[in-house]
Amino acid sequence: MFRSLNLPRLVMTLAILVIAGSVAGRAQQAGDGGNPQAGALRALYAGAPDTWPCPRLGEGARFTEFGPLPRLPEPTPREKALADIGKRMFDDPALSRSGQIACASCHSPELGMGDGLRTAFGHDRQRGRRNAQSLYTAAWMAPLFWDGRAATLEEQALGPMLDAREMAGTVRLIEVRINKDKGYRTAFRALGGHRRLTLQDAAAALAAFERTLRPPRSRWSRVMERGVAVLTDQELEGLHLFRTKAGCAACHSGPTLSDGKFHNLGISFYGRPREDLGRYEVTGDPVDVGRFRTASLLGTNRTAPYMHNGLFPTLEDVVSLYNAGGGRDRRSDQAGGKNDVPAPIHDPLLTPLKLTREERNALVAFLKVL
Ligand code: HEC
Ligand code: HEC
Repeated sequence: MFRSLNLPRLVMTLAILVIAGSVAGRAQQAGDGGNPQAGALRALYAGAPDTWPCPRLGEGARFTEFGPLPRLPEPTPREKALADIGKRMFDDPALSRSGQIACASCHSPELGMGDGLRTAFGHDRQRGRRNAQSLYTAAWMAPLFWDGRAATLEEQALGPMLDAREMAGTVRLIEVRINKDKGYRTAFRALGGHRRLTLQDAAAALAAFERTLRPPRSRWSRVMERGVAVLTDQELEGLHLFRTKAGCAACHSGPTLSDGKFHNLGISFYGRPREDLGRYEVTGDPVDVGRFRTASLLGTNRTAPYMHNGLFPTLEDVVSLYNAGGGRDRRSDQAGGKNDVPAPIHDPLLTPLKLTREERNALVAFLKVL
């Protein structure tokens, strides 16, 4: 269960829990109505994250300690100028075939840099099959997309521009459009070179802009700076559950609260009409059927609906899924699935949690702090 047996910490944790237990007992006897458990939790969480109680992990979990997002290298003047161009391009529907869809149509600052929809609408209002990801942590996430099919932001940007269901452009069309635009020509010229602008120039500018995006400042950022004093008792209980009993930290850890790995939570609709095989479509490896990249949880309160297919409208729904130990991939051969695909393997890190209603509420309260 424990990442490594950190004996002094373990002993300390046990000692505090024993003290907390007897304090709780006494408080109950005295009937003084205080919240001694919360007091004991505050003691456990008084220091920096690496002194907090050991996370509950499982076989194969890759945990990195919670912490503030690492500072990115200061952008060079060239990168800054490129990001300014990228910012304009991000909002520019001229990059799409219809001239009506910009990156910002699906990644809107008002909607957590997503689109608030279950799955995205693109060219000709065609419905995509996946939920638009929030871009708050794009600078730190790799590989990109729910299935990790792009290694870099530059490579990623080509995806939506050329995707028939998203912006439906072609290399030629986009290059003609950006070269016609005096603003882009002048801005790129200021960066040196007088050549024709290419699709790669656009991708580089968009990527430079995306690297300037940051999650909104939240109470979690303050916890990272000044400790858990800013949390209510309920939120602190939620943090403790997230790290321990609920096992969330087995996959959601590190500064982005994502291990950057792929897991199958049993919501791939395997063998059914809405089937999405996820990472398997990229690697062809049977272990990857139904796996998706662990989502970052920073700013998660603003990025509903949730999961690769936007299945859950609320965080309460997400917590219920985990409480049940994940979904169940059921093969139903009469439906339109691809039956030559091996059955998905349920992630062993997911087990039924038996959380009480209060515990589920506390977990949700904590997620809203992030
Ligand atoms: C029609 C809606 C739509 C448009 C337009 C769109 N996106 Fe997306 N974006 C999505 C969806 C849906 C996903 C997830 C797709 C997947 O995983 O297969 C996504 C994923 C991403 C990701 C990956 C984030 C991560 O954490 O891995 C980035 C970065 C991104 N988009 C940037 C852009 C840029 C740049 C543009 C403009 C060139 C753009 N998007 C245009 C819907 C859209
Ligand atoms: C086995 C690894 C694993 C564990 C354990 C886990 N998660 Fe996740 N989490 C994921 C993956 C993978 C996704 C994306 C899945 C998808 O879209 O199909 C995800 C998505 C989410 C999302 C949706 C984010 C979004 O933007 O759509 C939330 C919220 C979330 N998890 C919270 C939790 C909480 C709370 C717990 C503990 C009760 C938890 N997770 C435990 C791997 C895990």
